[in-house]
Amino acid sequence: MGYKISVERVKSSRIGEVDFNNLPFGRHFSDHMFMADYFDGDWHNCRIIPFGEYSIHPALSALHYGQAIFEGMKAEKDEDGNPIVFRPSKNINRFNISADRMAMAQMPEDLFMQAMDKLLTIDKDWIPSAPESSLYVRPHMFATEEFVGIRAAEHFRFVMFTCPVGAYYNRPVKVFIHDKYIRAFPGGVGFAKCAGNYGAAMMPAREIQKMGYDQILWLDGIHHKYLQEIGTMNIFVIIDGVIITPGLDQGTILDGVTRDSIIQLAENEGYLLQERDISVDEIINAYHEGKLDDMFGTGTAAVLSHIGEFHYKGENYELPPIEGREISNKLKERLTGIKSGKAEDIFGWVHTVPVGVYSGS
Ligand SMILES: Cc1ncc(COP(=O)(O)O)c(C=O)c1O
Repeated sequence: MGYKISVERVKSSRIGEVDFNNLPFGRHFSDHMFMADYFDGDWHNCRIIPFGEYSIHPALSALHYGQAIFEGMKAEKDEDGNPIVFRPSKNINRFNISADRMAMAQMPEDLFMQAMDKLLTIDKDWIPSAPESSLYVRPHMFATEEFVGIRAAEHFRFVMFTCPVGAYYNRPVKVFIHDKYIRAFPGGVGFAKCAGNYGAAMMPAREIQKMGYDQILWLDGIHHKYLQEIGTMNIFVIIDGVIITPGLDQGTILDGVTRDSIIQLAENEGYLLQERDISVDEIINAYHEGKLDDMFGTGTAAVLSHIGEFHYKGENYELPPIEGREISNKLKERLTGIKSGKAEDIFGWVHTVPVGVYSGS
């Protein structure tokens, strides 16, 4: 714990301006944010300050060359009203994997955790309590060196802010399996949570959204055949009672925290689960044989979201009603129970923010 975090509090809170019964995703921001700057090989000026704008240089290297990464976590309150966060150590670990791939500075886990705990202690009243709502935590880092020329930057800014949010999807998702655009290739950056992965997906996503679909279900970059992931979620398919999800070995998809949790929960429940390649032909054949029981996506923002329908090469395929999807409904219930602190945390996933440690600062 070598880092000291200073605190400057807001003069008056904006919390009264927010309707906590009607929370669109990512539109409201809590009172404070954490910020730190990296130069001379270490993090400096670690501070919690009022949430707000800051100025940047026109030659800020992240804007030109794309060294920018982020994470997403959710804080809720347990039965005793203490802030809890689901598996944050997986997020800091993935953050540093992304940083490494993008030639950016590592963020020490103790600084990350201290910043998060302190921020959540100060803004704990912003954690909503309505079902399916939470305080979304957005850590991110970008290159701040001011130069024109292509080389890895040596100055970075790390910022963590929070947003009270409701459900990401409030109905089954309609996905479009794209046979033209590709998100990631082996050897690329598909496994990293870097801003460019999302920027590159915007145009194809906007095209399919105009056609009435919610998200693209991406195929692999070599064969254009194997399922990869959805824009904001990992993908699971259930064929004839067997849960199948693509493996991480190609480095083309995000190692989702929710994905890993669903895998462990499924195994704990005794369901058959396979991490393997799954082709679009396999799911379409299963559909025609009446064996495609379920498809769903998993992610921090979207939790477990059922797919209602998918599109491939001009055809729409409608999936069974949500009520009958016993396996995924059970897994969702188990996951949300643990995440919200209501069910026993048998895996030790829940981090309780030590508010007593930070409330005096
Ligand atoms: C591309 C992509 N895949 C998968 C996920 C799910 O990851 P996690 O469960 O860690 O939120 C996300 C969301 O973070 C994502 O953006």
